[in-house]
Amino acid sequence: MKSMVILGIILIVALMTGTYLALGNSFSFGKDSTNDLTMLAVLLLLVIVVFVVLKYINQIKHDKATGDLLEGDWDGIGEYKNPIPIGWGLAFIVSIIWMIWYITLGYPLDAFSQIGQYNQETITYNKKFESKWKNLDEQTLKSMGESIFLVQCTPCHGDDAEGINGKAQNLTHRISKASVVDMIEHGGNNFKDKFPGGMPPKMLSDATQINAVATYVAGGFKGQVPGAWAVCSSCHGDKGKGSPFVGPDLRAYSDAFVATVLTDGKKGEIGIMPSFKDRLNPIQMKALAHYIRTLGE
Ligand code: HEC
Ligand code: HEC
Repeated sequence: MKSMVILGIILIVALMTGTYLALGNSFSFGKDSTNDLTMLAVLLLLVIVVFVVLKYINQIKHDKATGDLLEGDWDGIGEYKNPIPIGWGLAFIVSIIWMIWYITLGYPLDAFSQIGQYNQETITYNKKFESKWKNLDEQTLKSMGESIFLVQCTPCHGDDAEGINGKAQNLTHRISKASVVDMIEHGGNNFKDKFPGGMPPKMLSDATQINAVATYVAGGFKGQVPGAWAVCSSCHGDKGKGSPFVGPDLRAYSDAFVATVLTDGKKGEIGIMPSFKDRLNPIQMKALAHYIRTLGE
């Protein structure tokens, strides 16, 4: 025990010295009574802590337990009958009372919540947005489309929508000759929901025919209709106006086609267009289609 007390005193001196050094120049005895008092309190606390700890270590070492054992024996280890400590018992009862108060009065389930308020406000604003943008005129749609395009689409399609070094489709006119040729060669099945059958590859093999059809389509379906167009019109309709579920409109970027590209993304001759499904709502998609249609004018 004696050696422990000596150890305790050494510990106290060491901690006090540490405290003193840590406080550095800002501390000197006798100058500031608040500082002196603080130091005294530190000393007192240390003494109490060290000696209380020593007391318990001593108790662990030497105490012999007394009292009645509970029934039962766990591999030779018994358990004493201990009364519940009063403090613990009180804390237990108080916490039960507090819990009942908390659930019923403090924060009942239907009380105000920030998340609830946020959701409510979101619903209100969405409604407001929907009614405000329900029937937009042509001009508003176009400028809305333009501003979205400048932010979301120009990185790939370019400021003037002419495509950047062929890295994304030129959107200023509906179909280029090259993309018709590519489509005839490779076909495509990007839009499984809208056009389940897709377009089969190698629809034509004769180079003259391919050229004639490509010129006709890219030229906006004007002039003499090439004979081979019959192969295409079964799906793309007369003059490429498209037909539901089998082939898209090839004349202009329809609302439906742009929305489909934006929702599904598109893997094509040049690269991959990512899906914007979660980033744009239907009105914004419509606005983009309106804007894109004005590009060629
Ligand atoms: C069996 C129906 C079918 C036939 C026949 C067909 N197409 Fe298609 N075509 C489609 C479908 C579906 C798509 C959209 C598929 C995609 O883009 O992945 C498409 C897409 C296209 C596109 C690209 C449109 C775009 O903007 O992405 C072009 C160009 C095209 N077809 C031209 C032709 C030509 C020219 C012919 C005739 C040689 C032809 N198609 C025959 C169904 C058909
Ligand atoms: C990460 C680059 C990228 C971004 C961003 C992007 N696109 Fe595209 N987009 C492409 C590529 C690549 C293609 C061509 C796919 C192909 O080869 O047919 C394409 C094709 C398209 C097509 C179909 C063209 C056609 O004739 O079939 C439309 C319409 C389109 N993009 C509109 C948009 C709009 C609107 C935005 C902005 C919301 C946008 N894109 C943003 C890369 C992009």
